[in-house]
Amino acid sequence: MSELDKINSIFNAKIDNVKNKEELQNIKTEFFGKNGQISQQFKYLGSLDSDKRKKFASDLNKIKSDLSNQIEQKFFEIENLEINEKLKNEKVDVTLPVRPYQQGKIHPVSQVIDEISSIFSEIGFSVAEGPDVETEYNNFTALNTPEDHPARDMHDTFYLQKDKKLLLRTHTSPVQIRAMLNGKPPFKIIVPGRTYRCDSDQTHAPMFHQLEGLHIDKDITMGHLKGCLYYFIKEFFEVKNVKMRFRPSHFPFTEPSAEVDIGYRIENGKIVIGEGEKWLEILGCGMVHPNVLKNANVNPKKYQGFAFGMGIDRLAMLKYGINDLRAFFETDYRWLSHFGFDPLDVPTNYRGLSK
Ligand code: PHE
Repeated sequence: MSELDKINSIFNAKIDNVKNKEELQNIKTEFFGKNGQISQQFKYLGSLDSDKRKKFASDLNKIKSDLSNQIEQKFFEIENLEINEKLKNEKVDVTLPVRPYQQGKIHPVSQVIDEISSIFSEIGFSVAEGPDVETEYNNFTALNTPEDHPARDMHDTFYLQKDKKLLLRTHTSPVQIRAMLNGKPPFKIIVPGRTYRCDSDQTHAPMFHQLEGLHIDKDITMGHLKGCLYYFIKEFFEVKNVKMRFRPSHFPFTEPSAEVDIGYRIENGKIVIGEGEKWLEILGCGMVHPNVLKNANVNPKKYQGFAFGMGIDRLAMLKYGINDLRAFFETDYRWLSHFGFDPLDVPTNYRGLSK
């Protein structure tokens, strides 16, 4: 048997037993690698006399292409097998029951922030935001709050440092200062956001949400404030008329200051907003104090305007009949699926899409 016939029969014996790509690769190296059996024969070819060389070269080339064809063919065979094996194991069982899935809900607070923003944007307000961690200066000092004001007390405010320079904002009013320092009048913004106070019972949570409003221009009066709030309350509660009253109050950052009450009554155990003999306090407001404008680089001789602040959680509770504030922040999924909103439902008073 010639050398080439020997190689051929060794190869045939091996290739038949190959089971995977790795084994095939080994055979390829064994025969066609740098020192492989076929490669060796090519070296040997160089040493032959020219009369023998021609015949040997043609035999060698024949066996070379024959073996490499077999390798290629084996490769496709193995690949086919692998694919078939995979298909067998990955079969989709259409008789399996559907996996349970739960759709998320929009939290009432987020829903109400969206509703409020769309109502105010219709009358020209834009939405501004500020950080939860504030400076004492923006939260109190720039807002004309005296050093000895009770709100600055440790019992009411979460301070983040011993020197009291940083705190968790106790209201959204510091964003008035940020917005005015960052731009030029006129200003017409609302600011929804988280606020913090050391307080916790059925109607107070240490973290709650407020909505600030600020409108500063050359001739803004309390009349505008009243008109703006009246419009908002009617739109938010989706009622035609609202009984509303301004009660004199005091905030260091507004002068004059007022608290706003709206009328309500209870009917069949449910609260009806807008009419009735009872009063419900919903927000604080007033004309921005000249000192606040000065602190925010706005000339109080040229510009004036109003600000207001309301509790968003409270508004959500009233509108959607939720009676424990703490449940808002307990992240109980059952509560959320009951009181939450479908993300694809457009609220009736959402202006952006439906009207
Ligand atoms: N910041 C006040 C509060 O938290 C509300 C308010 C805002 C009052 C703006 C007047 C003007 O109670």
